[in-house]
Amino acid sequence: MRHLITPLDFTVEELEKLFDLANDIENNKAKYAHACDGKILATCFYEPSTRTRLSFESAMLQLGGHVLGFSDAGSSSAAKGESVSDTIRMISAYTDICAMRHPKEGSAMVASQAASIPVINAGDGGHQHPTQTLTDLLTIRSLKGRLNNFTIGLCGDLKFGRTVHSLIKALTRYDNIKFVFVSPEELKVPDYIIEILKEKNIPFEEVIRLEDVMPTLDLLYMTRVQRERFFNEEDYIRLKDFYVLDKAKMTLAKDDMLVLHPLPRVNEISVEIDQDPRAAYFRQGQYGVYVRMALILTLLELV
Ligand code: CP
Repeated sequence: MRHLITPLDFTVEELEKLFDLANDIENNKAKYAHACDGKILATCFYEPSTRTRLSFESAMLQLGGHVLGFSDAGSSSAAKGESVSDTIRMISAYTDICAMRHPKEGSAMVASQAASIPVINAGDGGHQHPTQTLTDLLTIRSLKGRLNNFTIGLCGDLKFGRTVHSLIKALTRYDNIKFVFVSPEELKVPDYIIEILKEKNIPFEEVIRLEDVMPTLDLLYMTRVQRERFFNEEDYIRLKDFYVLDKAKMTLAKDDMLVLHPLPRVNEISVEIDQDPRAAYFRQGQYGVYVRMALILTLLELV
């Protein structure tokens, strides 16, 4: 039995197979409409979500399966003090596979150790968000045709943004990737990520002004300032609009640069960009359904 807890749980070769499957699902939906007949997915979300929870549920429903779960810790027995380990033991008795989001780092790992069904980390605190990474990689591979030879800018809250941490780790396994980290001093990439890059001799630079690096980027990954992870509201208010990607900044970018964002967005991408052909973030959300369909099939060993 396999789980997905970190973005490195699948080898690069296994990811290629997963993305091939996701693209096949995209192009041949009817072929997979009964692939999960009789199977049940649990979505246990102790933190808010729109895309991750609903795309998992859509994925299972489109595969012919069923879904159950909770979208708020307060409506589960966590509110009475039940541990994640005890909860997943019960969920294992009711369902075949579980996607879990939790505010505490390491929760999905703890759940996987007590589970007798595959557990998928749907975001654990400020730590990792591996299925967003699968979504990001599938989007890049589908729209650019490759996962190597890129200069990628990651901009915004690089300290608390778990999607950023997962994506960097995943991209370290591909050739000729250069990272450009664009953040205010207070929201820089954590040291442990920088250490990984140094150990692997992967080039990176850290800058504050987005305008200075825009012309060099093949991909720009924008992120929201993570209000829910701040210790005080004053700091959040001071930093929340530090970056706003607008038409003026986009004039500095390459004609084929892609703008990605895990969403939700707040103010960091102006809506005036949405019609720009380089804006890929809503297409990215759609790829999230295909890759989660592929992941469910893979973890349930139905392919
Ligand atoms: N990208 C992402 O995780 O979005 P949600 O918080 O809406 O699930």
